[in-house]
Amino acid sequence: MTSADSPRPHTMLAAVYDTPGPAQNLRLTDEVSVPFALSDEVLVRVHASALNPIDTKTRAGRGVASGIVRYPALIGSDFAGVVVRAPYEAHPLQPGTEVYGMLPVPRVSGSYAQYVAAPSLSIAPKPDNLSFTEAAAVPLAAMTAWGALDAAEIESGQRVLIHAGAGGVGHFAVQLAALRGAHVIATGSAHNLDFLRELGAAEVIDYTARNFEDGLAPVDAVIDLIGNVHANTGSRSLGVIVEGGVIVNVPSGSWPEFAAEAEAAGVRGTHYKVSPDARVLEQITALIESDQLRVVLADTYPLERIVEAHEALEAGHTRGKIAISIP
Ligand SMILES: NC(=O)c1ccc[n+]([C@@H]2O[C@H](COP(=O)([O-])OP(=O)(O)OC[C@H]3O[C@@H](n4cnc5c(N)ncnc54)[C@H](OP(=O)(O)O)[C@@H]3O)[C@@H](O)[C@H]2O)c1
Repeated sequence: MTSADSPRPHTMLAAVYDTPGPAQNLRLTDEVSVPFALSDEVLVRVHASALNPIDTKTRAGRGVASGIVRYPALIGSDFAGVVVRAPYEAHPLQPGTEVYGMLPVPRVSGSYAQYVAAPSLSIAPKPDNLSFTEAAAVPLAAMTAWGALDAAEIESGQRVLIHAGAGGVGHFAVQLAALRGAHVIATGSAHNLDFLRELGAAEVIDYTARNFEDGLAPVDAVIDLIGNVHANTGSRSLGVIVEGGVIVNVPSGSWPEFAAEAEAAGVRGTHYKVSPDARVLEQITALIESDQLRVVLADTYPLERIVEAHEALEAGHTRGKIAISIP
């Protein structure tokens, strides 16, 4: 195994929570053990992390909370930082390499912390043109957008409706669908319509001013980032899809009847769940470095303001992403 020259501490600063509940349950402690990298894992000194709704949902006792068996629990998936320990001498991610990636969706480890141990196949070199905070905001959301478009088999010329196009996943999905040559229709509230156009949406719909389906010509696919959590957005989407078209329901929790309703509507319905995948991340890196894809940060909070950061994301109207700087 190879490691950087500087000695590493045994404990680190991290955000933890002792019991599921509101954002105020998050606290900082410097008594968390630095994770030990096993097998093909890479140890990374984290400089920035980012929030995703799975973090806030799980902290609140929903999301994947049932998979968390030990408290206090760490939290967070996204990270950007510098490799301090590689699995072996010839490994491509040697100490000193600036990287970004996502931890598998949480069981016990988390990235709101000074170190993470992550499988090699979940990490890629950081895009040269991004800061650590910008880079940390990319992996989970961009790979979700990529995977959802793949699941929908989006092709050039297709009409694609993307709900919540201004959010973390949505702002990547709009750009990536436009890059694939799709005709992108995105929903958002009035203050985000220009933003959606800048990302590449050909049509924008203010969902607060009218029903999105009113006057909308049929679409080949829907990337549903809302489900039925708001005004039956998911169910209503089935009515705008051409026969044999597809809907990808990304937040699965709010719409248990999804599969049956999609089948009844003559539509192919599928969920999508993101997995860390360095090969996808490397393709995302190439698009970012060639200025074809950008990440938008709504805010960056220092780790000590993690409670405020969670409350901001939970308000449900983040434009782009919220990043966390790690001391
Ligand atoms: N299955 C998976 O692997 C996976 C992965 C990532 C995310 N997810 C899920 O996907 C969902 C989206 O994630 P995210 O990170 O993109 O969330 P996010 O960043 O919190 O989304 C915020 C955006 O949602 C928009 N929005 C809120 N209500 C809306 C509505 N009724 N119609 C249209 N837009 C609306 C807001 O725009 P306005 O301010 O303009 O309203 C805001 O820009 C979450 O439920 C998340 O848990 C699942």
